[in-house]
Amino acid sequence: MRVLVINGPNLNLLGLREPAIYGRQSYADLVQFVHQSAQQLGLTVDCFQSNHEGAIIDAIQAARNTFAGIVINAAAYTHTSIAIHDALLAVALPAVEVHLSDISKREEYRRFSYLSSVCLQCICGKGFEGYAEALQVLHKHLLKN
Ligand code: DQA
Repeated sequence: MRVLVINGPNLNLLGLREPAIYGRQSYADLVQFVHQSAQQLGLTVDCFQSNHEGAIIDAIQAARNTFAGIVINAAAYTHTSIAIHDALLAVALPAVEVHLSDISKREEYRRFSYLSSVCLQCICGKGFEGYAEALQVLHKHLLKN
């Protein structure tokens, strides 16, 4: 089973970016962690990162015929993008939302997610481990459905 892991804007700067919130490990470290976690579940993953909303939408649309499901950290677009919400609805692939930080305990403007209503689950505040958990949730769902 092939899963697409999408990371949104500024996540390419992991390690440099607000390390007190997002940690000291880099985006390359995250990609490595995701591949290892997927391998343990027998999943194949592709990791995609973009700072552009349209590119994320294109990746979701292109996933339709290639991937069994999506793990998505849309970063700041989480709180603004009806278009990403609509793209997930359009392709109707099972998706799990993940955030490194606990968005429910941060600024008011981060507490609402446009993606939660179209995802199976939202996992937040667990750092890299949240991606492993998201892959587990998706894997379980894919085996059942
Ligand atoms: C984030 C949380 C978002 O509010 C923020 O804009 C990000 C990262 C997280 O992983 O904790 O860029 O999605």
